[in-house]
Amino acid sequence: MTDEPKAVLDVGCGTGLISRNLMEFVDRVDGVDFSENMIETAKILLNGNHPGINWICGLVEEVLLSPPYALITAGESLHWMDWEVVFPRFRECLTRNGYMAIVGQKNSPMPWDGDLFKKIIPTYATNQDFVPYNLVEELESRNLFHKNGEKSAKPVSFQQIIEDYVESFHSMNGFSRERMTEEAAHGFDSEVRELVSKYCPEGEMELQSVGKVVWGNPTTK
Ligand SMILES: C[S@@+](CC[C@H](N)C(=O)[O-])C[C@H]1O[C@@H](n2cnc3c(N)ncnc32)[C@H](O)[C@@H]1O
Repeated sequence: MTDEPKAVLDVGCGTGLISRNLMEFVDRVDGVDFSENMIETAKILLNGNHPGINWICGLVEEVLLSPPYALITAGESLHWMDWEVVFPRFRECLTRNGYMAIVGQKNSPMPWDGDLFKKIIPTYATNQDFVPYNLVEELESRNLFHKNGEKSAKPVSFQQIIEDYVESFHSMNGFSRERMTEEAAHGFDSEVRELVSKYCPEGEMELQSVGKVVWGNPTTK
């Protein structure tokens, strides 16, 4: 980040994984999320009460922002947004040499992925017409974003209990609890729990996670 002020807009900040960890490097972070639950959780996590962080509850498409920002970060959140509305906003909010960073994370393949992705996920996904796509390529093809570079982090191993693994699916677009019926969410959780338990009788698994950041600029059409 070269421009001043060292202010960051973190869109779809969730519980503030990016906002809270960036604070030691920048002057201010505005973290925006439409989920009140996520924002309230962010506030009580480490660094969540830092005076430099403004938690803003609302849609990125609509909330009042305080530009200019030298960096805009989006961690696993752009899929949900109305790109034709947010990208022109991002363009206007960024400083002259500002960047947008699209942050993603992938888990290494697990032995139950076949059953999970071919049977359970297609049964319960709320977005049945979903076709997997490469986010950055899609944004570039629509002239909304121009990629300047990318970097992947080294894989990190971590232990996760089955309950947290099951819950992690509800942060995905097609499995958000707001969009699923209670009955469907319960059915999905039970099937995933049953499948994974066969492989993890101790109730815990070891996952490998790789983080990746792509940086570039929102473009003007
Ligand atoms: C998968 S979570 C990622 C959270 C966080 N960025 C992280 O990396 O841990 C995606 C978040 O984006 C938020 N979100 C999605 N669309 C949004 C929108 N249009 N406006 C504000 N928040 C949005 C959701 O509420 C959710 O908390």
